Amino acid sequence: MAQNDDNQLKKIASHAKEYGFIFPSSEIYDGLGAAYDYGQNGSELKNNIKQYWWKAMVQMHENIVGIDASIFMHPTTWKASGHVDAFNDPLIDNKDSKKRYRADVLVEDYIAKIEAKIDKEVAKGVKRFGDDFDQEQFLATNPNVLRNKAKIDEINNRLGKGLETGDLDDVKALIEELGIADPVSGSKNWTDVRQFNLMFSTEMGSTADGASTIYLRPETAQGIFVNFLNVQKTGRMKIPFGIAQIGKAFRNEIIARQFIFRMREFEQMEMQFFVKPGEEMEWYESWKAKRMAWHNALGLGEENYRFHDHINLAHYANAAADIQFNFPMGFKELEGIHSRTDFDLKAHEEHSGKKLQFFDPVENKNYVPYVVETSIGLDRMFLAILSTSYTEEILEDGSERTVLKIPAALAPYKVAILPLLKKEDSGLPQKAREILRLLQLDFNCQYDEKDAIGKRYRRQDAIGTPYCVTVDHQTLEDNTVTIRDRDDLSQIRVPIGEIRSKLIETTSMQELLKKI
Ligand code: GAP
Repeated sequence: MAQNDDNQLKKIASHAKEYGFIFPSSEIYDGLGAAYDYGQNGSELKNNIKQYWWKAMVQMHENIVGIDASIFMHPTTWKASGHVDAFNDPLIDNKDSKKRYRADVLVEDYIAKIEAKIDKEVAKGVKRFGDDFDQEQFLATNPNVLRNKAKIDEINNRLGKGLETGDLDDVKALIEELGIADPVSGSKNWTDVRQFNLMFSTEMGSTADGASTIYLRPETAQGIFVNFLNVQKTGRMKIPFGIAQIGKAFRNEIIARQFIFRMREFEQMEMQFFVKPGEEMEWYESWKAKRMAWHNALGLGEENYRFHDHINLAHYANAAADIQFNFPMGFKELEGIHSRTDFDLKAHEEHSGKKLQFFDPVENKNYVPYVVETSIGLDRMFLAILSTSYTEEILEDGSERTVLKIPAALAPYKVAILPLLKKEDSGLPQKAREILRLLQLDFNCQYDEKDAIGKRYRRQDAIGTPYCVTVDHQTLEDNTVTIRDRDDLSQIRVPIGEIRSKLIETTSMQELLKKI
């Protein structure tokens, strides 16, 4: 279970580096802010998460197909989608520390402190009244709580209004009135609030050709919208249907911190579900439930997820919720489910002059479909799994181990084959390699013959390998091996011929998918 502190995140990041999951990008040059490289074990885990999503979302739905659109898109795409004009973060600088912040985050952090005060009041009530404490009634009637709640509402409304109407002077005034200080220096000497567009831009073509500014896509969704008709017609898709995609997205995040939680280059797994106008709320609820079921099947703990409904909706949405996850730094957004109306398709119709409509044979008319979107950050999902799996244990014999209890179907390696002895003349390495060749056809396997067996088990624990198969002298006599379980450390003796079926039963993607 993830602890709620910064130290835990640091420990996880350093474990991820030490064991080949995640390295800082271009580390030999001291790294690059908020860019990371996935190492040999990280890329296996990442690929398995992608496969789990793709299988569940695309291949197990007869009405959902997947595409792979290019990262570069015609610049008008981003004008139509609203990103050129409105994909901004409100920035503020502290004149003394020269540090830059997101104005809305400063205010949200202030609100979090008021929320902590409410939690403290509740904790006092619990302590005082024990089992008789009625939390609901307390929250609805306690004068201190009510005062703090009203304050939160007032701040939220003012911030929302300021950002929505572009009244950034009032956002600055709010920061000053609340007495918010630079968290680093304590200074309250702030600049004005300015809007900063989050898209990265570059030039396509040489200047002599008449180069044009293009953007690195800040979301994969637009590649789906512009291909709506291509897919609908060539795939003979009937509404309701979905188009899914996994791919890189880029955002020039101002405050990129918290390891891989907020990166400048990251990956999204998005699905746009096209529905008949008027039916979108039903589908929105249905996708909320389906996505939560996908998460819960992994067994990371249902208590680690919660829905967070958006109160201030984006201009294109008529309903939106996040699935938040209990990361080491607390509950934060992992996935978004948005009912995006017909905003995107209509905007692309207007800007391209092309019709993006569906002919409904039942209704005998054309319409622009509504869209329900599910959008999850692959890197955030990776962090959710890594942080929940990371476990430090003291064993019965007093020794310590660090183990990644990664859901077996997602683990980088399913099994490690370990000959007890390294010496060729013992016959054990040859036998172990025979078993390796047998299992490699179905599973990603490791082979390790170096060091004492206990040390080799620890190495596998640290990268989350669910099973270790040990080949010993008895194996040469009766063709049996021991299988050690990563989580409960039990060891059972089984015939070589049974290893495959045991691994399929306990580590296969199929078994995981059946749980959804
Ligand atoms: N198409 C909708 C969309 O892009 P979003 O809420 O901006 O919506 C969707 O992003 C998901 O992408 C988020 O829930 C998060 O998991 C992931 N994400 C967004 N920005 C990210 C960043 N800077 N680093 C890592 N993941 C990010």
